[in-house]
Amino acid sequence: MLAIIGGSGMTQLSCLKISRRRVIRTPYGEPSGPLTFGTINGHDIVFLARHGHGHTIPPHRINYRANIWALRSLTPEHIVAVAAVGGIREDLIPGKLIIPNQIIDYTYGRDFTYFDGSEEPVTHVDFTHPYSSVTRTQLFRAARLAGEPVINSGVYAAVQGPRLETAAEINRLESDGCDIVGMTGMPEAALAREQGLNYATLAVVANYAAGRGTNVAAIPLKEIYSVLETAMVRVRSIIEHLVQCYDD
Ligand code: HPA
Repeated sequence: MLAIIGGSGMTQLSCLKISRRRVIRTPYGEPSGPLTFGTINGHDIVFLARHGHGHTIPPHRINYRANIWALRSLTPEHIVAVAAVGGIREDLIPGKLIIPNQIIDYTYGRDFTYFDGSEEPVTHVDFTHPYSSVTRTQLFRAARLAGEPVINSGVYAAVQGPRLETAAEINRLESDGCDIVGMTGMPEAALAREQGLNYATLAVVANYAAGRGTNVAAIPLKEIYSVLETAMVRVRSIIEHLVQCYDD
């Protein structure tokens, strides 16, 4: 089964034929909302809205541990995380889709690990390549089948939010090697790795990052949602092709 985590602009998956919703409690508390089960073209899918059904949970308050724990309990073959980002690199203009291959974590104060207890041995996970190469490859294939161009690598800067960045912060992220900036990529990716799950991100560039492109004066927040609305139609088409890679 494929699990989808929907971000800003995707609080529901309209192509999903819903069969049921299930509230899952975890040792880490409650996930962002009930898990939604259903099918796309006959293939089983589970969907979770990262910010809650009504898009009310800000990035720093998301219970990432509960979300990943709840999904893991269903033993999904892959998790695809859809995320809105700002574009730092010049070619990453609003509306572009990108499957990042690296992350730098600038977040703080979030519950970022399952290996936190005093009773278990100290545990480290390898995170050299933070995203699953198998999941990424399937996403590329699905995008090709859907006829949707996607950029096939980039470094995701995970920032704290909920405010957007200053232009100087974006300059710093760029000199660190970051191509896109978003608020939810971490600790989600690391927690998925700790649970041994195949996880990859399909990012949608919602706006030029602060001080970039046409956003030299300010980021036009209203435009973000119309960019996302249009782009999510393309994301859904990729997901519809992706499900065909899975035997339920
Ligand atoms: N910065 C951080 N997160 C974001 C942005 C941004 O410009 N756009 C969408 N999510």
